[in-house]
Amino acid sequence: MIRTYQELFANNKKWVEDRTLQDPAFFDNLAEGQRPKFLWIGCSDSRVPANVVTGTDPGDLFVHRNIANMVIHNDMSMLSVLDYAVNVLGVQHVIVCGHYGCGGVAAAMGNKQVGLIDNWLRYIKDVYRLHQHELNAIEDPGQRLNRLIELNIQEQVYGLTTTTIVQNAWTAGRPLQIHGMVYDLKTGLLKDLQITKDQTSEIDEVYRLEPIFA
Ligand code: CO
Repeated sequence: MIRTYQELFANNKKWVEDRTLQDPAFFDNLAEGQRPKFLWIGCSDSRVPANVVTGTDPGDLFVHRNIANMVIHNDMSMLSVLDYAVNVLGVQHVIVCGHYGCGGVAAAMGNKQVGLIDNWLRYIKDVYRLHQHELNAIEDPGQRLNRLIELNIQEQVYGLTTTTIVQNAWTAGRPLQIHGMVYDLKTGLLKDLQITKDQTSEIDEVYRLEPIFA
């Protein structure tokens, strides 16, 4: 485990040497531009680094991370990342990746104030309210938390389908898929939640938006 600020630079130098040894053109190629196929929306948790857990390289994933992998419909940072990924980079897969043992979701399940973050976690309480019958029927608190973590991912996937960015891509016939997956801290394994949405998916009438220029 890294302890000092200086170690970051020492590690970086070693990494550059290793990568250059493996592939002398590695950095020259990356410097020319990026063409990632995936947008990853994940949790800020230090234990779930997108590239590491997927065994991918620089250039493979466009990444947005926040506490509890949320898709908040007026979050300009998330929307800008999504728009750039879909409309400029042309990614074909958007992934919402949550993780079991998520402290953000656990805090949202409780009633103790944590601080400013409570106002962010409140969105997860909306997910709890939507699914409270199912959740309250689960007696084991750990299992209830894991289920809320899965349902939260499901709702963020749903939230992506309500954006103009995703709806316009689908109207234009683009093969954009939105996936939900969960990472298990205890095993290191990723699980697809099999809730993938694509241009054939039904969008709830309430959220369906006709394009301005048809
Ligand atoms: Co988390």
